[in-house]
Amino acid sequence: MAVHGYLSRILPALLDARRVRDNPGLSWEEVSRLSDGIRRLSAGFTGSRDLPGEKYFAKADLLDAYLLYYFPITYAKVAQVLAELTVTSPAPRALDLGSGPGPAALALGHRLGAHSTIVAADRDVPCLGALRGIWKHAGVGQLHTFAWEAPAALPKTATQFDLIVAANLLNELFIGRRQRMDELFAWLRSVASRLSQSGSLVLLEPALRETGRDLLDLRDRAVTAGWFVHAPCFWQGPCPALEKDRDWCHASKVWQPPEWVRVLGEEAGISPSKIGFSYVVLGRHRPAPAPTGVARVVSDPLVESGKKKLWVCGDMGRRLATRLDKLASGKNADLDRAERGDVVVIEGARPLPEELRLDGDSDLRLMRRVEPEDLPLPKTEILVRRD
Ligand SMILES: C[S@@+](CC[C@H](N)C(=O)[O-])C[C@H]1O[C@@H](n2cnc3c(N)ncnc32)[C@H](O)[C@@H]1O
Repeated sequence: MAVHGYLSRILPALLDARRVRDNPGLSWEEVSRLSDGIRRLSAGFTGSRDLPGEKYFAKADLLDAYLLYYFPITYAKVAQVLAELTVTSPAPRALDLGSGPGPAALALGHRLGAHSTIVAADRDVPCLGALRGIWKHAGVGQLHTFAWEAPAALPKTATQFDLIVAANLLNELFIGRRQRMDELFAWLRSVASRLSQSGSLVLLEPALRETGRDLLDLRDRAVTAGWFVHAPCFWQGPCPALEKDRDWCHASKVWQPPEWVRVLGEEAGISPSKIGFSYVVLGRHRPAPAPTGVARVVSDPLVESGKKKLWVCGDMGRRLATRLDKLASGKNADLDRAERGDVVVIEGARPLPEELRLDGDSDLRLMRRVEPEDLPLPKTEILVRRD
């Protein structure tokens, strides 16, 4: 489903959630105040990491900064992941856990359509109010919200979901506990019991090494417990990125952020033109069979003199697909345009211990890419007033 233009409708909603009427845009004074908040959030989430576990949304300046900057970014991340998933239920149900002001809930509604029911839960009650305000302008489907604090059990009625999303939540849970990963996984199992038979759990975390590796650890525990990985992996064995301490796996995508997001990011000293995150989609049902040789591109292209390389991870494990420039051919030409996150099919490459060596007869075909059209690009934008 095309999601073009939704962000254009979100901004008035975001302004409304901040009780700013008539969409007058952002004054430069506001840009400056918001960018202070963005810097604080950015440092607290990705630098000092002193915000996870704290009730930062109780501070109006930080909630404002989140709404105007991180909300559209998380929306774009979740929309990108959802673009690859298939949900067949005629009246889909989805749960957004740790929703905050609800970028994932909104993306779910847009993806699942008018017959969907989206339930959002968070311990921060004002955030849920902000989400209900946003929904009035930009929501699709029915929204329900409830206050809830993990690890408390979810209400009995919160069940039979086709999708459960936890975006940027896991790294905030069980902080400082000695058996943190055990507790987190036990909690995830209880959450997953609220899925329908064919439902999937969508876990999305920041693109940091530590949080990314924790996510992969949970992925491996789930696989050991008999679950299946539906995305981004085609490999159902232990994650090869956990073999070396310095590795992890993350997605990133160049996108064209709304103008106000670009301006706010620039003022805060952050470039929002590339969105990065780690994610995994898990389910109890076996995914539909993929073609032999299918793989996800898990690195940016690595260009050496006379050679091109790409890390890919697929039914053959994690390998470096390598091709000498002089062996470039029509059959392997997609190596030159493949990007991180793309799904490719590789056939006829020579398998070496860590490598898949392509020659002129080897096939490397791009099978699927989430194109910019699948991401929410605003049509018209808000006005940042430089007065
Ligand atoms: C970084 S925000 C992410 C919000 C939203 N999911 C997103 O990705 O934009 C983390 C959210 O988790 C919520 N949260 C943190 N600990 C929680 C807990 N124990 N129970 C419920 N919500 C929690 C916070 O209130 C906050 O809204």
